[in-house]
Amino acid sequence: MVEALKHILYKYPDKVQKDLIPILQDIQNEKGYLSESHIQYLSKYLSIPEVKIYSIATFYNQFRFAPNAKYHLRLCSGSACHVMGSEKLIETIKNSLEIQANNRSKNGKFSIEEVPCLGACALAPLIEINGNYHSKLNNQKLDRILNELLENQQ
Ligand code: FES
Repeated sequence: MVEALKHILYKYPDKVQKDLIPILQDIQNEKGYLSESHIQYLSKYLSIPEVKIYSIATFYNQFRFAPNAKYHLRLCSGSACHVMGSEKLIETIKNSLEIQANNRSKNGKFSIEEVPCLGACALAPLIEINGNYHSKLNNQKLDRILNELLENQQ
């Protein structure tokens, strides 16, 4: 573990609490999520109890504690997307992919994340799938995308 995080922690030599969020962001950017062992190691490195790190990290919905599924969908529920009907589209996505309370599909192939803005409001409503934006969605476009995902999920 030390080796896996060494190049990240090298940027934060002071071992102070104010570096916690940037370190968590760096780890997630590189590893895709925060594992239990990441948190344990950080707890020792920054001298912050694990429970406090979890409590801080769970406050921000940007952090994930499990790896993304093969297909990771980021669903925008921001204002611009909301007025363009994102709520109904998100509901359709959750139903079609059988997303459960843990934000993963029953078969484990899909994971979702609701975000406050994808930074492309002019293209609302939109979603991101594995880094690709699908913009100006309507029911027909979404049906096509979902059918493709479900057909190619193997
Ligand atoms: S509100 Fe959806 S992209 Fe900004």
